[in-house]
Amino acid sequence: MIQPHWRLEQLETFITEEQIQQRVAELGAQISEDYRGKDLLLVAILKGSVVFLADLMRHITIPHSVDFMATSSYGAATRSAGIVRILKDLDIPILDRNVLIVEDIVDTGHTLNYLRRMLLSREPASLRVVTLLDKRARREVDVPLDYVGFEVPNAFVIGYGLDYAEFYRNLPYIAIPKEGFFDEPPEE
Ligand code: PRP
Repeated sequence: MIQPHWRLEQLETFITEEQIQQRVAELGAQISEDYRGKDLLLVAILKGSVVFLADLMRHITIPHSVDFMATSSYGAATRSAGIVRILKDLDIPILDRNVLIVEDIVDTGHTLNYLRRMLLSREPASLRVVTLLDKRARREVDVPLDYVGFEVPNAFVIGYGLDYAEFYRNLPYIAIPKEGFFDEPPEE
């Protein structure tokens, strides 16, 4: 059995649940205003964005639909070369639709840069991006961000969709690991 890594006492809260909920409500209100009377399609990038998407869409008060994409990099070297693998493509065409990409975090920018170019080639009516977190200090390629929740420093952040070894996505807040968090467990 896979042993879950679960060290909540070695985490420092960086953005509280209240701060996130307030900001997500603001983003939802702004998006509702900007897309009023338009056909809106949210495209969420799995898996990190699911928690943000679930909250954000409940604050979007205009009719909209949702679709998903999944990506994976081939590894650090190829990612920095801008090569992204599509594990799951959209289910529906986006021609003439107003597409809003939903991301949890933009780091180097390579994933988003690749996705934007790919989706633009399908000729949507418009293409914008909302990201909960912007780790601007790490950017390697310039990508336009239309809606940003919070800027974060160049630190490892987890929670609210973001994982460490696939765990911690369910935390309702964003945290930064303290010393010892990544240590190997002591021998039994
Ligand atoms: C994260 C995030 C973005 C990407 C950003 O996904 O959700 O898609 O990395 O990194 P970049 O700006 O350096 O390209 P990740 O590959 O960790 O997958 P996950 O969402 O399934 O955890």
